Formats: sequence, C-alpha cells, structure tokens
Amino acid sequence: MINNFKKQCAQSKLSAICAQLTDLSNTAFGVNNGNIPKWEAAIDVIQQHPKGTANYQTPYLNITSKNGNIDTLRQSLKLLMPWRKGPYQIGALQLDSEWRGDMKWDRVLPHIRSLQGKCVLDVGSGNGYFTYLMALEGAEIALGIEPFLLFNYQFNAIRMLMKNPPNAFVLPLKLEQMPAEALFDTVFSMGVLYHQRDHFMHLQQLKDVLVDGGELILETLTIDEQHGEQIIPKNRYARMRNVWCLPSTKTLYGWLKSTGFQNIKLVNVTQTTTDEQRATHWIGDNTQSLSDFLDPNDNNLTIEGLPAPRRAIFICQKK
Ligand SMILES: C[S@@+](CC[C@H](N)C(=O)[O-])C[C@H]1O[C@@H](n2cnc3c(N)ncnc32)[C@H](O)[C@@H]1O
Repeated sequence: MINNFKKQCAQSKLSAICAQLTDLSNTAFGVNNGNIPKWEAAIDVIQQHPKGTANYQTPYLNITSKNGNIDTLRQSLKLLMPWRKGPYQIGALQLDSEWRGDMKWDRVLPHIRSLQGKCVLDVGSGNGYFTYLMALEGAEIALGIEPFLLFNYQFNAIRMLMKNPPNAFVLPLKLEQMPAEALFDTVFSMGVLYHQRDHFMHLQQLKDVLVDGGELILETLTIDEQHGEQIIPKNRYARMRNVWCLPSTKTLYGWLKSTGFQNIKLVNVTQTTTDEQRATHWIGDNTQSLSDFLDPNDNNLTIEGLPAPRRAIFICQKK
C-alpha cells in the first residue's frame, strides 16, 4: 500500500516530501497494536475477492464487483468494524456506515473549486470515503491523513477491491507531522477542528501546507450566536470526550481571518439529523448513535443540555 503511494507521490507535486511521509507512515504502522493480526487477516481474505471499477452512485461509493463470495467478504469487512464513514457498495453488498457521507459531500461539492489535476489533502480522513470522492473528481493525488490505524486498514480494504483505484491514499499521520511545505492546492479539514486543543495551531498548520492562492474547506461544529461566542464543553459533548471548543460562525470567521485567510465564505450551516448519523449493522457492539446522544425530549439539545450538533462549512483562500 505504502509502495503504491510512493510511486504516485514521486510523480506528483509532492515528490519533495514523499520519503518523509513514507518513513513516518512506516513508523506509525509499526506500533504494537494487538488488533493488527485480526485486521491483517481480514485484508488477506478481502484481497482475494474479485476487483471492480469504482464510481460514485450517490449515496454509495460503488465498486462494480461481480461474482465472489459475498458472505466471506461481509464477514471480513465486519472484522474491521466500526465503519463510521461511507457508505460503500461492493457488488450486491451494501456497507451502510454510521454516517451518510454523501449528505456532507452534497453540501460541500457545489462550492469548491474544481479538483481536476489538483494536489489535495484531506486532514482527518477517517477511512477515506471523501478522499476517494476527491480523487474521483480528478485530483492528481488526494492524500488523506488519519492517525487512527483501523481507519487506514478500512481504506486499504476498500482499495483492494478496486481494479484501477483512483489516485487516493490514506496515511497514518497527524496534521502536526506534515512537513510545513506549501504544496497542496486544496486542503479539507472536515470534522477535525473541534477535536483540537489548540484551534489556532490547527488553522495555521492548514495554512502552512497550502500553496499561495490555495483553497481551504473547513467543516466543523459551530453554535448559533444566541448561545454566545463559543462554548467550551466542561465534560462530554454529545457523549464525545474530546470536543474542545464550539465557536459561533462569527467567532470562527474571526479565527480564520486572524490566521490570515482571505475571501472567507460561510457556504452552509446544517443541524445534523438522525438520517445523516444513525446506528447500522456496521458499527459493531456499541450500537449508540446520534439519537442516543440527544435529549430525548428536545432534539435541539444534546444529552448534556448543550446545543445539538450543527455543522458549518467555510471556504477561504491563502493570500
Ligand atoms: C469526526 S472524524 C471526521 C472524518 C471525516 N473527515 C468526516 O468529515 O466525516 C475526525 C477524524 O479526524 C482525525 N483526527 C483528529 N485529530 C487529527 C489531527 N491532528 N490530524 C489528522 N487527523 C486527526 C480523527 O482520528 C478522526 O478520524
């Protein structure tokens, strides 16, 4: 997998940083994680399945794989649960992830510059559902970075089912590990900012890796201004432990401006619904999802009494 990345990377505008990214990724994959033998075993079986062509047939990232034993494939993909991001379809098998990623993509895609021939970074890519869609939009290379190893294995499992995979890759890296080289034409940070203790550092690092004139797509949780400038959850937020800050869209606009971004546009604000985030058979033993994280008497509040998840999409440029 890393070899495939190395080859494509060397031919792209990222060639100067390929060796560094490869070394960092090999180190990350080399950690002692007791689940790796199970994930490797799943991948070994998945790669025997007949390969198909990838395309986007909303809501699914679809792989037109015919034949093959679908029960064996399902069992192996289930060893890689929980599947948070997707959905995917492989032949007749519908892998319905917790999230309907297509709903976010529909909100994002009409507003961004064409990805044709671009060098794209997808920060916090999860299993790469969006990274694949970016590559299918014609990116020269779409690089997802995702520190959680399981999601890297999920990405690889899906890639192994593709005959001619698009130029999408996911590496087990954090944004903080990326060389501060201005090489990417478009950078996505979707669902990541609120997980950062230091939001300014995250915004600055996003800016560092963008070429001059490059475009940032920032999607994150925000609050309505009636709730103030920002909320810093004392404990959990919608049962999530690691949510550090929920700014109002006005506050977030100010953060982007102080980081030096230009042409800052708020293109969408949407409250997350239980159609978009829901429990499915693909999320494993912990079957809770958004409906369990909201106040049962008021869908506009989380179970902790804070404003319910509401996501904003900002688009802006460096210089
Ligand atoms: C809520 S998910 C969002 C996934 C996808 N981008 C989306 O919009 O659905 C956030 C992901 O960001 C990853 N993440 C958190 N901090 C990160 C960092 N500093 N650098 C890269 N990824 C990070 C997490 O591991 C997690 O998988």
